[in-house]
Amino acid sequence: MNIIAIINHKGGVGKTTIAVNLAAELAALNQKVLLVDFDAQANATMNFDVEINETVYSAIKNDQALPAYPINDNLFLSPAELGLAALPSMYVGKVNQYTKLKKALKKGNDYDYVIIDCAPSLEWATINAVMAATHVLIPSQAEVQSIQGVGQVLNMIEEANEDSEHVEVLGIMVSNFDKTTKAHQMGLEHLQEEYSGQVLESKIRSTTTVKQAYMMLNTLRDFAPAAAVTEDFKNLAKEIHGKVTA
Ligand SMILES: Nc1ncnc2c1ncn2[C@@H]1O[C@H](COP(=O)(O)OP(=O)(O)OP(=O)(O)O)[C@@H](O)[C@H]1O
Ligand SMILES: [Mg+2]
Repeated sequence: MNIIAIINHKGGVGKTTIAVNLAAELAALNQKVLLVDFDAQANATMNFDVEINETVYSAIKNDQALPAYPINDNLFLSPAELGLAALPSMYVGKVNQYTKLKKALKKGNDYDYVIIDCAPSLEWATINAVMAATHVLIPSQAEVQSIQGVGQVLNMIEEANEDSEHVEVLGIMVSNFDKTTKAHQMGLEHLQEEYSGQVLESKIRSTTTVKQAYMMLNTLRDFAPAAAVTEDFKNLAKEIHGKVTA
């Protein structure tokens, strides 16, 4: 089971958009995919028109497997709720506080991919995601503030691997990219110099189609199958599937 956590503690860099649409595109490659919304903001959950009773929060609290609501034949959603924010305080001082998500995933079904949408923080939830993950994907806008976040995420992964190597950095990927903007071109060059060989080929362009799809409670491939940004996500899914299965 390939478990990919999408991490950058800088807010609004496109984590949720990537989690949702990468999950949908991997599912379209005939992979069985569980999208885990591990952010109390529940933005990934709100991307879908699904009636929910159980969430990641209730599953972890009750020591159960994560819920999996079908979106289509291959794609399943494990939803979030605001209550998730209360979980860390329940486990303060417990030795196993950072392996709660890992344990809940182990109790559930097998998937080809689990995609974890993380909150903009490097605290309890994100540490749990790193401990559960086999791979980490680091989105960054080609802008200085989010590039600064990349180094801190890489340090966190290094720490997580200190005792035993369990999580691999799949790469840094550029989201919300406007190639006509000089600042974005400079930001991309900076990322490529600073993190040579670690920046993925696939970039996600900036376009209002992303917001429209979200408002219509849809993935990009369902909302705008012929859009250029949908093609960006198809390419991202192929690049990631190629790396993971290489
Ligand atoms: N490629 C894109 N083009 C245009 N807008 C985008 C793109 N990707 C994301 N956005 C918009 O930017 C905002 C932030 O995106 P998103 O919610 O995916 O980021 P996030 O990193 O998950 O945020 P948070 O840190 O709050 O969880 C949203 O309004 C989203 O619609
Ligand atoms: Mg988000």
